[in-house]
Amino acid sequence: MIDLSVKLGNLDLKNPIVAAGGPLAGTVEHIKDCVDAGLGGIVTKTTSTVWYLQRYPKPLYSLLDYKKDKMKPYNTPDSYFWMHREHNSCYPPLQFAKIIEEASPYAKKHNCAIIGNFSARTIEEWEEIAIAYEKAGCDALELNFCCPFPPDGLTKSELDLNIGIHYTKNPHEAVKVLKHIRSIVNIPLFVKMSPDGSNFKEVCKLFEEAGADGVTMFANNKTLRVDIETGKPNIYGFAPGTGPGLKALSMRWTAEIAGECNIAVMGNRGLSTWQDAVEFIMSGASAVQYCTPIMIRGLGYVKELLDGIEGFMKRKGYDSVNDFKDMALNQIYTNQELVDKVKPLYAKVRPDKCIGCKRCIEVCWYDALAFGQKAGVIKKNCAGCSLCSQVCPVDAIEMIERDNELEHFQAMSSAHPELAPEDFWPKGL
Ligand SMILES: Cc1cc2nc3c(=O)[nH]c(=O)nc-3n(C[C@H](O)[C@H](O)[C@H](O)COP(=O)(O)O)c2cc1C
Ligand code: SF4
Ligand code: SF4
Repeated sequence: MIDLSVKLGNLDLKNPIVAAGGPLAGTVEHIKDCVDAGLGGIVTKTTSTVWYLQRYPKPLYSLLDYKKDKMKPYNTPDSYFWMHREHNSCYPPLQFAKIIEEASPYAKKHNCAIIGNFSARTIEEWEEIAIAYEKAGCDALELNFCCPFPPDGLTKSELDLNIGIHYTKNPHEAVKVLKHIRSIVNIPLFVKMSPDGSNFKEVCKLFEEAGADGVTMFANNKTLRVDIETGKPNIYGFAPGTGPGLKALSMRWTAEIAGECNIAVMGNRGLSTWQDAVEFIMSGASAVQYCTPIMIRGLGYVKELLDGIEGFMKRKGYDSVNDFKDMALNQIYTNQELVDKVKPLYAKVRPDKCIGCKRCIEVCWYDALAFGQKAGVIKKNCAGCSLCSQVCPVDAIEMIERDNELEHFQAMSSAHPELAPEDFWPKGL
């Protein structure tokens, strides 16, 4: 019997798939639909008291690099870039608490955690909303320190600037908020971080000390795209953007924080397939959030994600998510380990497989491929980069370990041996 349940800090989830904050969970009905979809947790739409963020989200969405196919209307391409200008919920936080209050019994009945997401401008506001959300039935809170829309130019009060991403940029203020909320609510606390911040390790350690159960990495980046036919910026300029192309960056930070801090990490931004969930969990994530992949494909996609993970676990003989959690995290090498443990390589063509297409020759930047009837490797020049073997259409190139490091350095510098470091080549060359 496969067990998909995970522990997310002090929060138990029946499975690791969580709806990321956004329009998936902005009304009572939508929260219930998310519950029915089988999600392990639901982050609710961000609320705040900033007047501007409750209004004017226009234009809403822009889906770029999305290849449509009129013969297959339900085809959803793996690749896309998404930009949007959706702000906070139009319902102010204390009104939104009523939405949570109405939906939470249904979520509890189906063992789906509700994680209330909000941002605020002062400690008093943070406190009031946190208490209201806990009372309304949230199982945890996700403090929005990331929302990328400071209302520049549209402030009614100076305080309006102290919202969302302000806390990513001012982590010491974020810590004060976190400590205070930790002292007044009993439910687990998560922090949603912006990728436009910096010093993530130091900041996450501060959050850990302040009592956070975990961090969500990440919200959207502030991005820019241009329509080259008109020369105009897409969606009128800078706007939050996400897409599968950003997955590797989010995963890198998930692993760095999971490896160095004692807090849970929820992977987010750029995941789109069930395989991505597995990759993030192997890299240290305790759970994973999806927003645009579900928005684009519909809530039925949650079942596909869960079935995919379950099928994978069956195939690999894993009974629980813990059987593969941190698997990759524990095998990330330091530079010292790379030096000590990893041998250099060289390429070798298998003439029986080579079809003579010359594809490999185009990609060899070390002058190590020659061509007669078939491709052949000049071993003394081969830097072992492996690009040729990765592009060869018929897998005719094998990579073989060198047992001599010096030979490897000599191959890399074979074009200009006289310019190489002294210990690469015998003297007098
Ligand atoms: C239309 C839209 C609205 C969003 N609204 C919120 C929000 O209210 N609160 C929040 O924390 N994140 C919000 N996000 C960010 C998502 O929660 C998520 O962090 C981001 O889209 C990256 O995940 P993805 O690559 O799975 O889409 C929103 C994203 C989109 C696309
Ligand atoms: S491994 Fe790299 S350097 Fe060696 S032959 Fe192939 S492409 Fe050239
Ligand atoms: S890419 Fe492969 S098949 Fe093509 S020439 Fe090189 S080794 Fe031969």
